[in-house]
Amino acid sequence: MANSSSDRLLVTAALPYANGPIHIGHLAGAYLPADLFVRYQRLKGRDVAFICGSDEMGVAILMRALREDRTPEDIIDTYHPQIRDNFDRFGMSFDYYGRTSSETHVETTQDFFRVLDEKDVFELKTEEQLYDPEADMFLADRFVVGTCPGCGYEKAYGDQCEQCGSSLSPTELENPQSTLTDATPELKETTHWYLPLGRLQPKLEDWIEEHPEWKNNVLGQIQSWFNEGLKSRAITRDVPWGVPVPEDVAERHGLEAEGKVIYVWFDAPIGYISATKEWAEAQGTPDEWSDYWQDEDTTLVHFIGKDNIIFHCLMFPAMLMEHGDYVLPDNVPANEFLNLEGQKLSTSRGWAVWLHEYLDDFASERHGPDLLRYALAATLPESADADFSWEEFQRRVNGELANIFGNFVHRTLTFVHRYFDGQVPPLNDPSAADRAMLDALGEAPEAVAAAYDEYQTRDAVFETMALARRGNKYFNETEPWHTQETDPQACANTIHVSLQVCASLAVLFEPVVPSAAAALRDRLGLENVRTSTPGADPDDAAGWHDAGTPLLQAGMTLPVASDADPLFEKIDDSQIEAQIEKLRDRADQQDSESSSTSEMADALDDLKSPISFDDFSALDLRSGTITDAEPVPDADKLLRLEVDIGLEERQILAGVAEQIEPGALVGLNVVVVANMEPKEMFGFESQGMVLMAEEPDGTFVPVTTDAVDGSVVR
Ligand code: MF3
Ligand code: ZN
Repeated sequence: MANSSSDRLLVTAALPYANGPIHIGHLAGAYLPADLFVRYQRLKGRDVAFICGSDEMGVAILMRALREDRTPEDIIDTYHPQIRDNFDRFGMSFDYYGRTSSETHVETTQDFFRVLDEKDVFELKTEEQLYDPEADMFLADRFVVGTCPGCGYEKAYGDQCEQCGSSLSPTELENPQSTLTDATPELKETTHWYLPLGRLQPKLEDWIEEHPEWKNNVLGQIQSWFNEGLKSRAITRDVPWGVPVPEDVAERHGLEAEGKVIYVWFDAPIGYISATKEWAEAQGTPDEWSDYWQDEDTTLVHFIGKDNIIFHCLMFPAMLMEHGDYVLPDNVPANEFLNLEGQKLSTSRGWAVWLHEYLDDFASERHGPDLLRYALAATLPESADADFSWEEFQRRVNGELANIFGNFVHRTLTFVHRYFDGQVPPLNDPSAADRAMLDALGEAPEAVAAAYDEYQTRDAVFETMALARRGNKYFNETEPWHTQETDPQACANTIHVSLQVCASLAVLFEPVVPSAAAALRDRLGLENVRTSTPGADPDDAAGWHDAGTPLLQAGMTLPVASDADPLFEKIDDSQIEAQIEKLRDRADQQDSESSSTSEMADALDDLKSPISFDDFSALDLRSGTITDAEPVPDADKLLRLEVDIGLEERQILAGVAEQIEPGALVGLNVVVVANMEPKEMFGFESQGMVLMAEEPDGTFVPVTTDAVDGSVVR
């Protein structure tokens, strides 16, 4: 089904967790590219359903609730409406925004689960799992911390060690501890349903092979999962929040459903289906949802961030395949991550730009959310991580939106009102320059469309701006301010052609800057063109491809007078400085809070129990020089170091890649544990450890010495 040419399109954007507000990282990852794509498709006249909603059932929600001493319901009822409303203010043109706590969703998920169970797709496994006797609860994933068996990090989570990046199961941790009560967990038997991804791998491989056109970053990640070999994944949990395992299904296996829920990554993608059902229902055509999910002529596209790739490219498709009644995604254009001012976004450090704050500071009547939409769309992390900075935002707004697009429109409209009584002048005997401009106009819709069709959203935005740039150049070269006196018809031609370019820009720019495009349509009196928001347009409305031809009739009168404001307000330096300051203040405050004395004590590890002198002398500590340092492929957290310890060179893996640049380590004289058992990680053998002090905020500082290499430390 690659490049399916069917007309019906179902587009989803990852369901955000309803446990916090939306920031620019979310927008750049999934939401903005999805919205641009959908708006473009609607302008082409394509039948689209654009579906999203809040992800409300997961352990992430439960954890937040427990941490804040609130109920999960309370958390989702706070964030769901906020997220929905802020998406709306940002111009997200969903056909439907649902939520996974809805009745339809619970039913749809349970039905799906039941069908797979009856087809015997699942494996059931009874295992001992960690159980918190004080909380009377099994401890899944993040409810357990303990020592990583790989690297010795003492605060590894039950599912992953944040230090060395290895993926773990809770029972692998040494000295496990419940994060709920600090109790030492007990082992207790429990039975869970598993999705046998290992068994399904060959099928998935065959299917992925049909899609060489997918983005490289996506195919690369999928390939490395295949190389490692997929494993069965538990898709039920013993936690008190989630879609309940249906009783009849549990009974089939002689089990109790009580206390068991379906894993969030099983239910959440089904949320796309349940939201489509609710959308169809709301439209009064309740059966129509199945046209979008079950008819082979549907093209399904998932927009997501890169951390969701395995779930959308392997797990959900496996579920859909095994169910049998559903189409599979045609593409999953995942984006990489967006950094902010050169640093990773961090919600806990306050290093983020929150959507609601941006809207409060910058959204105006005229251009609504458009400035951020444009600046972000031009900076999308499509093939690699990208960086958002406030100065670049200002440059894009002032130098591109205002100086190119806005200025071109403004000059053209000023002329038409000043010299042509607000009427579109006739085009007579066009010059070579006029014709060249009209030719360029004719090619623009195709050029922009080609980029959108390939999910090259950034290029689509550049191509659109290129038409405005071309218009400005044409205006300069034909000099209507001269011809107005020397050759009135030449001036009329310039203004006629420029108006056509403005009209086309009102269509082609609509996906990116919908508010400004609407304002421009009003000023041009451009009626009977399609809009990119949900809802039917008249059949004869002009659309995307008509934007390559003149949309305005000579002689028609433009409705808005000449003194209208420019389309975009420029951003002052002071506004940018204020944003940067806000960001730094917040980060500083966080940093100083976490190092204020009481918090400092909290953040420091408790003293460990005493050891004997013999225990200590068992350690072989040596001084050495780091001679080389480089990242370990695929391991985000690890650096591979070469350390000269006098008698020999050691290769040592250190879990500090996120905090320390490799270059900053080379040449340092450090202390090494020289008699650690060698340990293999990501295909490299680590032959020792480099001692580092961990500050309360998680910063690692290498322990250094001036002693010659190989000296014994005791
Ligand atoms: N809530 C998840 C996240 O924010 C995304 C869920 S996407 C869906 O990472 F497919 F599960 F809905
Ligand atoms: Zn580890």
